[in-house]
Amino acid sequence: MIIRPAIRTDCPGILAIYNDAVLTTTATYDYEPRTLAQRQAWFDEHARDGYAIFVAECDEGRIVGWSALNPYHARPGYRFTSENSIYIAAEARGKGIGKLLLAPLVEAARTRGLHAIIAAIDAANEASLRLHAGLGFVQVGHFKQVGYKFDRWLDVVYMERLLDQP
Ligand SMILES: CC(C)(COP(=O)(O)OP(=O)(O)OC[C@H]1O[C@@H](n2cnc3c(N)ncnc32)[C@H](O)[C@@H]1OP(=O)(O)O)[C@@H](O)C(=O)NCCC(=O)NCCS
Repeated sequence: MIIRPAIRTDCPGILAIYNDAVLTTTATYDYEPRTLAQRQAWFDEHARDGYAIFVAECDEGRIVGWSALNPYHARPGYRFTSENSIYIAAEARGKGIGKLLLAPLVEAARTRGLHAIIAAIDAANEASLRLHAGLGFVQVGHFKQVGYKFDRWLDVVYMERLLDQP
């Protein structure tokens, strides 16, 4: 398995992993699967604006995970902050791929001159909380019942990793 920057033809693999998480988890509060066109537009915006996307590709050439930096807010005062995304295919979780995909994202943020990375994580998502803590993210907030999915209220934990730039 290799970790590498994503290319546009990875979009179907990225989409399949995300859409499965939409339908089966509270990792994302989306309800409806996204389309390939939406994912390609997302990829194009990231490429244009220099926000990193990495994929994990297994030996057979299948995409088994991805990570991305995303703009945090559009207002210019937020331009040194990014929000991250990370999704591993269900059958590939718990094997260390999350760690392999998050570490280069932190380095990409540093290279881009960012100052902070924010991770918004469902409070019950133990794997994601541990993954981010292992890469130096610390909890900075816990919002109660701000999400609603699968007929229940959901809490969101915010974790933050500060980088070295002023
Ligand atoms: C959360 C996710 C990205 C973690 O990636 P992963 O490859 O499964 O995790 P890793 O194998 O790299 O393990 C990372 C840490 O989480 C822990 N972990 C993994 N699966 C776990 C689980 N089911 N429960 C508790 N801890 C778990 C590992 O022990 C490890 O912690 P450690 O370093 O303290 O030992 C992945 O499980 C996933 O994609 N889940 C669904 C989508 C999602 O939740 N995305 C994140 C949205 S914020």
